Amino acid sequence: MILIKNIGEIVGIVPEGVLRKQGTEMAETGVLKDAWLAIEDGLINGFGVMGTEPVDATEVIDAQGGMVMPAFCDSHTHIVYAGSRDGEFLDKINGLSYEEIAARGGGILNSSDLLHETSEDELYLQSMERVREMMDKGTGALEIKSGYGLNPADELKMLRVIRRIKESVPAVVKVTFLGAHAIGRGYTHEAYVQTVVDMMPQAAELADFVDVFCDEGFFTVEDTDRILTAGAACGLKPKIHANELAVSGGVQVGVKHGALSVDHLERTTDVEIEALRGSSTMPTMLPGSSFFLGIPFGRAKEFIRAGLGIALASDYNPGSSPSGDMRFVMALGCIRMRLTPVQALNAVTLNSAYAMGLSDITGSITPGKRADLLLTHPGWTLTKLPYLYQTPFLRKVFLGGRALG
Ligand code: NIG
Ligand code: FE
Repeated sequence: MILIKNIGEIVGIVPEGVLRKQGTEMAETGVLKDAWLAIEDGLINGFGVMGTEPVDATEVIDAQGGMVMPAFCDSHTHIVYAGSRDGEFLDKINGLSYEEIAARGGGILNSSDLLHETSEDELYLQSMERVREMMDKGTGALEIKSGYGLNPADELKMLRVIRRIKESVPAVVKVTFLGAHAIGRGYTHEAYVQTVVDMMPQAAELADFVDVFCDEGFFTVEDTDRILTAGAACGLKPKIHANELAVSGGVQVGVKHGALSVDHLERTTDVEIEALRGSSTMPTMLPGSSFFLGIPFGRAKEFIRAGLGIALASDYNPGSSPSGDMRFVMALGCIRMRLTPVQALNAVTLNSAYAMGLSDITGSITPGKRADLLLTHPGWTLTKLPYLYQTPFLRKVFLGGRALG
């Protein structure tokens, strides 16, 4: 048993069985001051106030007043990609929009060309560097999408690389088939949608979820309906890209298919909020892409006021959000979306775990859950994380009960 003692405060304590937070619950988190926490067999074994700690620990870590919180959960990433899109970064600085870059054959198609030329081993090595950086910054569970293959052979290559990452890291990884990320080169729209549908059984052998970029200029509600129906037939639950570029109808089609989450949501109306109420779908906002693209931030406060929960994720990808720093995502949630630190914490831990179907095993301080924990340096509080948003705060990251080296 590992005992962490003299913890200034534990935050993110959630009772067993609570799988997500919604509405006013978003403002609540369990806190215990002057505490200890025990880890056994990779799981959270228990916690309490100092003076009641177990005496049979084999390893004792003195937190010296540091804070303990759940590791971040990042439910939306595209971190398997080849090379870089720094040339487009310059185009963007010079005034081109995301859509204009895509229309010139750049954007996702640029990444797809690079991926095609890159060997599977090299793709794995390049992607693993990003996963290591994310874990070092405190991410303990992440979802990774395909979507830069855009033909059957290259999509399967991506999915195999994601599986290999999943099998080689201490973080929990979920795999999403995003064949419908853009129309692959050489296909008509219709032929490509059919190809994605036909790919489904093979993709389903490697993937946990299916995703569609349901947005203006990419895939329609009808395409999405078809692809999600094909996914369901192969046992794949949906997670949808919706309402990033336009009010796309993606939210409604996602809810209709029982999506685990609908993501982006920079452009939503009250109709989308209404469609989500009473559903099991987690609205997920990606403030890193709002920041990087200079587009609106999601209306998180209004969603919460309407009784909904929200999750926040990084969207880490080479085109619209080249960062997987979840502490920065949390800071953007507070600074730009006006979430309180507690609301932001719930959004980057429990609710983001829910958006990956993982909130029964991680995403909070709950006995029996995986010990995916962050221990901060002394003096840190939850409010200081987004406030001092660039000051190093992490002393140790525990994933599955093991401290990262
Ligand atoms: O979530 N919106 C669609 N896909 C990604 C961007 C991918 C890229 O530009 O490479 C996103 O923002
Ligand atoms: Fe995305």
